[in-house]
Amino acid sequence: MRKFDPHLILRPELAELKAYSPLTGNFEVRLDANEAPAVLSAKAKKRLSQVASEIDYSAYPDAGQKELRAAIAARMGLTPAQICVGVGSDELITLLLTVMTRTKSKVPCPTILTTTPTFVMYRLSARVRGQRVIEVPLDEQWDIDVEGMKRAVSATDPNVIFIATPNNPTGTMASHDRLIELIEATPSALIVVDEAYIDYASRNHVALLSQYENVVILRTLSKIGFAALRVGWLAGSRALVAELDKARLPYNLPTHSQKLAQVALSELSEEIDATTTLVKNERARLAQELDSLPGVRVVPSEANFLWLELEQPAESVMNALMKQKILVRSFSGRGGRLDRCLRVTIGTEENNQRFLDALRRSL
Ligand SMILES: Cc1ncc(COP(=O)(O)O)c(C=O)c1O
Repeated sequence: MRKFDPHLILRPELAELKAYSPLTGNFEVRLDANEAPAVLSAKAKKRLSQVASEIDYSAYPDAGQKELRAAIAARMGLTPAQICVGVGSDELITLLLTVMTRTKSKVPCPTILTTTPTFVMYRLSARVRGQRVIEVPLDEQWDIDVEGMKRAVSATDPNVIFIATPNNPTGTMASHDRLIELIEATPSALIVVDEAYIDYASRNHVALLSQYENVVILRTLSKIGFAALRVGWLAGSRALVAELDKARLPYNLPTHSQKLAQVALSELSEEIDATTTLVKNERARLAQELDSLPGVRVVPSEANFLWLELEQPAESVMNALMKQKILVRSFSGRGGRLDRCLRVTIGTEENNQRFLDALRRSL
């Protein structure tokens, strides 16, 4: 057998990275992945099965994602030419970072700017492509530090800025004024406003698209009950979408994902609304119960999860919960104030109650 060491030709940045692997194990209540609770009605499932059964498995998917783009555009009040659909919004993050790589004169390599803590895929996707990542810590209230971001823009001249709002893992939204101030100060980067959790929030940023050509919005079906389909999309200018289409793999989105997503968006909006309402009601109930526990502070959330600031190390609480077969998400090991924070996805009433009871025993 010929020996071969792939490291001879692999990008060196891979050595610093770990594969994204959610914890597996025999948990009875999983509140770790920010999925919506599985509450789809039997009628909706039947309709989805019927559409799936009519797929022509011998044919390639629609490379232009025509009908799905139309359904998304209708939902957002935009035109289909402003929409590009990916295998989850993850794929669009990687697509942007694949093409937005021109080296600017001031800086040695393409740079992205984001906040910390935030969604890990921005950093991961950028490092996989050898790009420099600048992260500006969120402020005391987990809001964007606009002065820090503006300083980073002028010092590092990034190609792309990622702002998740509501943010993962904090559940907080960037204040509108600060976001606008950052956008105004940044004419030469693409600003990606990641609205993965927008269905749980009190406002959205679609209006920015008609004011700034260098703003795009990311959305996904993953957080509103259809994570299995892996459908996310980008909304932006027609010119940008046309360029992304050149780099996107032509058949990136399987037929079943396109067709079932279209059914979800155009026929199941009442079910989606019922799910988000259930989650928002549970979010309010759980937040109130948790806030009354000694040593727990709940950060006001606009997403389908809660960000808890604890007085004790998050890791010990997380371990105590795991012993009771309940999984939430801890960020300990990342240092600083994150070592005392836990992220808990809002689930069904029953699962939330089990978490609450288990947490009471764990504190
Ligand atoms: C802020 C944010 N953006 C994007 C995503 C990715 O979503 P998708 O499932 O569409 O790839 C996530 C998933 O957790 C997220 O938290």
